[in-house]
Amino acid sequence: KKVVLAYSGGLDTSVILKWLQETYGCEVVTFTADLGQGEELEPARKKAEMFGVKEIFIEDLREEFVRDYVFPMFRANALYEGVYLLGTSIARPLIAKRQIEIAKQVGADAVAHGATGKGNDQVRFELSYYALEPGIRVIAPWREWDLTSRTRLIDFAEKHQIPIARDKRGEAPFSVDANLLHTSSEGKALEDPWTEPEEFVYSRTLSPEAAPDKPTYIEIEFEKGDATAIDGEKLSPAALLARLNDLGGANGIGRLDLVENRFVGMKSRGVYETPGGTILHAAHRGIESITLDRGASHLKDELMPRYAELIYNGFWFSPEREMLQALIDKSQDHVSGTVRLKLYKGSVRVVGRKSPNTLYSLSHVTFEEDAVYDQHDAEGFIKLNALRLKLLARRGMNG
Ligand code: ARG
Ligand code: SIN
Repeated sequence: KKVVLAYSGGLDTSVILKWLQETYGCEVVTFTADLGQGEELEPARKKAEMFGVKEIFIEDLREEFVRDYVFPMFRANALYEGVYLLGTSIARPLIAKRQIEIAKQVGADAVAHGATGKGNDQVRFELSYYALEPGIRVIAPWREWDLTSRTRLIDFAEKHQIPIARDKRGEAPFSVDANLLHTSSEGKALEDPWTEPEEFVYSRTLSPEAAPDKPTYIEIEFEKGDATAIDGEKLSPAALLARLNDLGGANGIGRLDLVENRFVGMKSRGVYETPGGTILHAAHRGIESITLDRGASHLKDELMPRYAELIYNGFWFSPEREMLQALIDKSQDHVSGTVRLKLYKGSVRVVGRKSPNTLYSLSHVTFEEDAVYDQHDAEGFIKLNALRLKLLARRGMNG
């Protein structure tokens, strides 16, 4: 009878809105979230009103997004398949969570989203819905309707007086998803993995070639694993990430061209821009390098791919993600201090790190004479480690 739609205000979700009203004859409630995608949200209200929507939710979730989703994920140094910083994956659980809360508030029995039946996003939305509200009804129009071509979709829009931006009339060159952490582009013009993406694909980074010939130095402060200040200025999580995006974008940092394995089984080619996230990732590893014990650090590194895969596959709201999160958060107790970074033509390098909790001991590591470390101790250490290698060698070659 009532459905809460994740509504961007764009053409596709506007068609979905109308289609839900027509097909299900149900009352549609729209939910539009500002996750830092850099688009005006008020037009979404006007459009929803035009469709006769009575309950319209428009919310600024930028701080919650960075504080409760992006930052916890960055404590883990999470990367999917070695490189992807999970910018789309981490946004879906938050959108789903608010949709479910709104559904409860307005007494809706269903939720709907605009993800296709071929991708990861449908999985992420729906696993989150079911984890939070097991009895919820899910409507995924892309898997149901017969508007399977652009022409049909445009025809439907025209028939129902849905406004179509001039540039949307033809085939969109590729699909874009953006938020404070990243912009992702995939599909259509980008589908041939042998063809280099054209410069116009990129929207928030200068190309490294066009970036300044002089490096930019910045300092990031961390408290218990979270970045809190840039160059001495305290910033809220969202403001801090926005600042890093500006710095990264201006220095051509954070571009990625990747063929990845989707959860549903196929490979897809994505082009990503994660300027601030790329800097933050490097900086976080930098501060961990002096504040984390080796055992703690290596254990984190072993678990990281599992954690990243859980987020990629849509299991944010799962006991195993929460268990790993507890371990990761615990590891960050002493991860405080300052990292100095050099941003230059697409690269970000850690060039300095300091912390009141540092484990780095100059008196131990120095090449000069020292009083704290007895080099004779190393002899027994090596001999005992060599014992099994010697026994193997005695038995014969090849172990
Ligand atoms: N492949 C990325 C992921 O699964 C992005 C998906 C959404 N991007 C898009 N352009 N529609 O996280
Ligand atoms: C979609 O299919 O809706 C976007 C791509 C994805 O979810 O992987």
